[in-house]
Amino acid sequence: MLVTVKEDYDAMSREAAQLVAERLRKKPNLVLGLATGSTPLGSYKELIRMHQKEGLDFSKVTTFNLDEYIGLSPDHTQSYHHFMMENFFRHINVDHRYMHIPHGMASDIEAHCEWYEEQIKKVGGIDLQILGIGANGHLAFNEPGSSLGSRTRIKTLTEQTVKDNARFFKNQKDVPRYAITVGIGTIMDARELLLLGSGLRKADAVHAAVEGPITHMCPASIIQMHRRATVITDTEAASKLTRSYPG
Ligand code: PGA
Repeated sequence: MLVTVKEDYDAMSREAAQLVAERLRKKPNLVLGLATGSTPLGSYKELIRMHQKEGLDFSKVTTFNLDEYIGLSPDHTQSYHHFMMENFFRHINVDHRYMHIPHGMASDIEAHCEWYEEQIKKVGGIDLQILGIGANGHLAFNEPGSSLGSRTRIKTLTEQTVKDNARFFKNQKDVPRYAITVGIGTIMDARELLLLGSGLRKADAVHAAVEGPITHMCPASIIQMHRRATVITDTEAASKLTRSYPG
């Protein structure tokens, strides 16, 4: 595992975007796994800048997102579909036919999860998977206790997540209770992982993932088993690491 600690969020984001851009220049039809949340936003901004100012080309890229809330339509302002459109896709030249995000309104969720896994296989697997890390060590919606071999499936959101999300919804009954998430096994099948962590709130999780034992109680710790994983953090998120890592 390669761990790089950058000075702050912006430097972390630039470093991550550079890695993605490098892989993309080498393989224009890159299959890119994408994450939502606040952590990758800076990297998406930098990739957008590279597209607009330097002509970084996404036209042949296929994307797969990690997760989506069940019960929210793609155009719901709190859906991850909407998040990706607003924060990334509509600013770059990605072909919308090659974009994949689990569908929160799928009528047969189980069949949809199987279909999603099949789509990943059909394009030859994910080349590079971008990941955030939860303060509790989760990856996507794979919370502590998730099977380390899991595949795409439905998960019940933790009480904490439901509470955290409530503020974004006018109607309490609209707050999602379930999500579709790719599994830890799905994530580990990617040929390369790029995990980002920023801020003091993530320091314990980054420590557990990078230096702790591999355990389903910190799903992100599984990346220690990956043959090609890069972790990029800022100094705050790295503050509990006991070894020194290059900047
Ligand atoms: P965040 O979430 O990027 O909004 O901190 C990351 C995660 O929970 O996976």
